[in-house]
Amino acid sequence: MANNNPIGLFDSGIGGTSIWSAIHELMPYEETIYLADSKNAPYGLKSKDEIIALSIKNTEFLLNLNAKIIVVACNTATTNAIKELRTKYDVPFIGIEPAIKPAAMHSKTQKIGILATKGTLSSELFNKAVEIYQDTIIIEQIGHGLVELIEKGQLNSPEMNRLLHSYLEPMIKENIDYLVLGCSHYPYLIPQLRKILPQHIQIIDSGEAVAKQTYNVLNAKSGLHPEGKSTNIFYSNGDPKVLEAILNHQHKVTSKDF
Ligand code: DGL
Repeated sequence: MANNNPIGLFDSGIGGTSIWSAIHELMPYEETIYLADSKNAPYGLKSKDEIIALSIKNTEFLLNLNAKIIVVACNTATTNAIKELRTKYDVPFIGIEPAIKPAAMHSKTQKIGILATKGTLSSELFNKAVEIYQDTIIIEQIGHGLVELIEKGQLNSPEMNRLLHSYLEPMIKENIDYLVLGCSHYPYLIPQLRKILPQHIQIIDSGEAVAKQTYNVLNAKSGLHPEGKSTNIFYSNGDPKVLEAILNHQHKVTSKDF
């Protein structure tokens, strides 16, 4: 079954474009609409109720533009709100959760690190997922301040470097062999993380897995876009220049209040 309607994606800001890129790479023919709710970033410090309300607002905006599926390109929104979204709307939702499973399964030291927001690490969904891996020591670290700096476009600032060192050094001392990135903003920090982490520590993010899952659900349920030229729309309610820069100036960003 073919379906020309767009894939809708939202995040608290520009970070979910790491998920958008994985989806666009796998399914270049799909139309997409990306919402950067930068005005309300970071979600990671908000209450569960606030995160649910913002996720509903973003979902309705995308549904009004005929989204055939919604990708919640934000770990914090997924772990706090996806259950409510799935109950409220008929459209399929794809969420993004920290990839603890592959890290725990492959870890030789049986110690893995996870860097995520406070909202994700304190969520019920995340804590239930962690309970399954009793044999693995999971060192949790809140990435205080990282989303704020990324939203300002300060990926390489001395402050970023200082924060990353302070979060990673204790994990390195504990002998982790995997670092799970539990926030869709963090893949943009991989070059900086690689400079700090010893070579043997692997970094895992969820972009590719989310793209594959999106493909599978479209194929089985909503329908894929036929081959052809696709349009990719980006809306930001913050500074559009920061979103344009993270997209390497390959896409135009429209300022919109939502
Ligand atoms: N990209 C969001 C996530 O994956 C960032 C959260 C925030 O806004 O604090 O969790």
